[in-house]
Amino acid sequence: MVGAKIPTMLWVLGVVFTFGAAAVGLAEANNVHDFIIKEANYPRLCQNKKILTVNGQFPGPTITARRGDVVIVNVINQGNKNITIHWHGVDQPRNPWYDGPEFITQCPIQPGTNFTYRILLSEEEGTIWWHAHSDFDRASVHGAFVIHPKNGTYYPFKMPHEEIPIILGEWWKTDVTHLLEESKRTGGEVNLSDANIINGQPGDFYPCSQSNIFKLPVQTGKTYLLRIINAGLTNDLFYGIAGHLLTIVGTDGRYTKPFTVKHIMISPGQTMDALLEADRAINGSSNGRYYMAAHTFASNPNLTFTNSTATAILDYVDAPPAKRAGPPDFPNLPNFFDMKAATEYTAQLRSLASKDHPVDVPMKVDVPMLITIAVNVLPCASNETCEAPDNTRLAASLNNVSFQNPSIDILDAYAQSQNGVYEVNFPDKPPFFFNFTDTNVPKELEVTKVGTKVKMLNYGEVVEVVFQDTAINGAETHPMHLHGFAFYVVGRGFGNYDAKKDPATYNLIDPPYQNTVTVPKAGWTAIRWRASNPGVWFMHCHFDRHTVWGMNTVFIVRDGKKDDEKMFSRPANMPRC
Ligand code: C2O
Ligand code: CU
Repeated sequence: MVGAKIPTMLWVLGVVFTFGAAAVGLAEANNVHDFIIKEANYPRLCQNKKILTVNGQFPGPTITARRGDVVIVNVINQGNKNITIHWHGVDQPRNPWYDGPEFITQCPIQPGTNFTYRILLSEEEGTIWWHAHSDFDRASVHGAFVIHPKNGTYYPFKMPHEEIPIILGEWWKTDVTHLLEESKRTGGEVNLSDANIINGQPGDFYPCSQSNIFKLPVQTGKTYLLRIINAGLTNDLFYGIAGHLLTIVGTDGRYTKPFTVKHIMISPGQTMDALLEADRAINGSSNGRYYMAAHTFASNPNLTFTNSTATAILDYVDAPPAKRAGPPDFPNLPNFFDMKAATEYTAQLRSLASKDHPVDVPMKVDVPMLITIAVNVLPCASNETCEAPDNTRLAASLNNVSFQNPSIDILDAYAQSQNGVYEVNFPDKPPFFFNFTDTNVPKELEVTKVGTKVKMLNYGEVVEVVFQDTAINGAETHPMHLHGFAFYVVGRGFGNYDAKKDPATYNLIDPPYQNTVTVPKAGWTAIRWRASNPGVWFMHCHFDRHTVWGMNTVFIVRDGKKDDEKMFSRPANMPRC
């Protein structure tokens, strides 16, 4: 044991030294991972396909850490395209350099090159995840990031017998890089995925999928902690397990007040921690086996969507053999269009707000913003034909600005005071007010402006963003995600936000603390956070097609006065564009 430890340490030091990650102490250097980006063959749905992976694994490896740890990940790009990795849900205090989104905080890691991420955990505790943050690479380059309590502290709930990541995703038969290129070329919709998947598998209701369905072996009387992640690109999902209830105890790497449900609704980017009591070995309707299932919650019924159901099996290993032979029970999930079920689930999320896990909800707002969300169109260039209605190209916007990636990253431009890369005039409110959620939106509102506009914030200011969905090209939900912070979700409602009346309905006592919030279809959501993290932070819809269409913006938080309120200086090893 001791003999084995020493070479590991030397190796760790070697890695740290080679990649030049300064100031990594021995204590924290234990949590070091090599992520080799490479293609691997994965047969699914009766076809062989090459996908981009980390270390050949799909879903990718789970990172496990304790609250407050420093985690080092060496990304070695042996793939055939540029890539970056983002640590979704890690605040990265003062440390935007290692946040990941391409052309926002870094240039991509080119094939044949390496980049070492230094990930600073702070208050996160629970389930977060990591994923590629370049093009559509996230479809297969993702994994769980599990943060346990500090040594000597414990879960604010019963100790589970086992913890299992349940990673919900999507599978395309075509190559996702091709998928993106095609949609950019035609300006039309991105082709639907061919399946929803659970831990990489579509399950029993898809061709050629039965023998590899994900099975979770359980024992009667034990408690399991499911760390559920929606890693999909397109679909809000309902998820549940036949014959069993789920007790939600956390979301987005923070604890919640426990509540018990038959099924959850989870948007891309979100995580839900759920306790599962294995108490149905023999008293199910027929079986010692139960399906867990996930299918799309389609908030906009006018859009086509992946309409088949992914399954996995909860298998009581101690049930009588006869009970394990028949078909598993199937859960009752809400139907695809069940807005009520989705809304009711989301409304139950509340912060734990205990002595050990207190809330700190800002009561006074310094920077109020109202941000409209829209799917738009842009004119088709004269030398092309476009597939969106009336020969247009699809786009998307926040406050009628469709975000365009610059060609060098915004963080570098900001740190080096380089002009011409971005503008600092992202608007605090929409350019025009209209009945945002009325289905008869004037046609001329469909076209958006284009730009690379950021919002500047002073260190420590309290920001309130009210996201307002619009009916331009059809209202739908949007999972809005902020980098660099978690935020309190203080309010939500349907229709147009009313600045006079709606704040009176806010929950300022125990609002959920999240990094990805589902803005309701034809409704609004209010979030608050204190900008006490200097740096450059992306904010975007976590539906990937909306991101590539421009439903994004950036917050730049200026340095504060004190030394520990300033961004770390630029690491020497940043990739070049
Ligand atoms: Cu989960 Cu900007 O990302
Ligand atoms: Cu969206």
